[in-house]
Amino acid sequence: MAQHPLDDPAVNPFEIATKAAEQLAERTGVDQHDVALTLGSGWAKAAELIGETVADFPASEIVGFGEPAVEGHIGSIRSIRAENGTRALVLGARTHYYEGHGVRRVVHGVRTAAAAGASTMILTNGAGGIKSAWRPGQPVLISDHLNLTADSPIEGATFVDLTDLYSKRLRDVARSIDPELDEGVYVQFRGPHYETPAEVQMAKTLGGHIVGMSTALEAIAARQSGMEVLGMSLITNLAAGIQTTPLSHAEVIQAGREAEPVISALLAKVVGAL
Ligand code: HPA
Repeated sequence: MAQHPLDDPAVNPFEIATKAAEQLAERTGVDQHDVALTLGSGWAKAAELIGETVADFPASEIVGFGEPAVEGHIGSIRSIRAENGTRALVLGARTHYYEGHGVRRVVHGVRTAAAAGASTMILTNGAGGIKSAWRPGQPVLISDHLNLTADSPIEGATFVDLTDLYSKRLRDVARSIDPELDEGVYVQFRGPHYETPAEVQMAKTLGGHIVGMSTALEAIAARQSGMEVLGMSLITNLAAGIQTTPLSHAEVIQAGREAEPVISALLAKVVGAL
């Protein structure tokens, strides 16, 4: 198998992202996108509701994007024109950190979106809820994160400020669409195993409210590239030990399916309000 271009340490990942953005412009006929979205479990239908799809093709046609490894994550890239003229780039193929291919591949979509001109990055996921008042099927905003991967997408001594990583302004835009949206601190674990109840209690003690296996590393990369970040989680289950029944991927997928029409419509409206 040919070596993945991002696996060569001598290769500058931003150069691959620039090349990917050039291929995107060619493939979509759109020189500049405004907003990019990564659609996690339960959020995929938003792509159909944001506006008119002007291009839709397998992500694998663009340099640096692999095939998606997880059921429930679509492996396509779409360019969409919203009614208000906003150009949205939907990245269906998220590479997870737990796949073990390194952080460069995890954040390649974000870096490509930035190179394609997007100034806003919307990161969505399906996640476990720690707040006992939350219910499966409920969307929540991410207000901050705890990165428990012990890794970073930033290579070398670049010191990026993360004080307001998850934009208050964008959270307010989302709340202007749905005033009921609660928010919480997202905790990224490596996965792919779910957390133990003790780890969930640790996350809670540390100030976490949402547990998952994505998003934090992508948000850091987005900020490094100067983007404004909106993070949204679909609570697919209560976290291990908070709910008394065992966790399963099937349960996560099922909760995503059930919530999909409602949360996808919400997300599409948020994009329309940007
Ligand atoms: N933990 C981690 N990731 C998840 C969960 C969870 O409980 N639910 C969906 N993704």
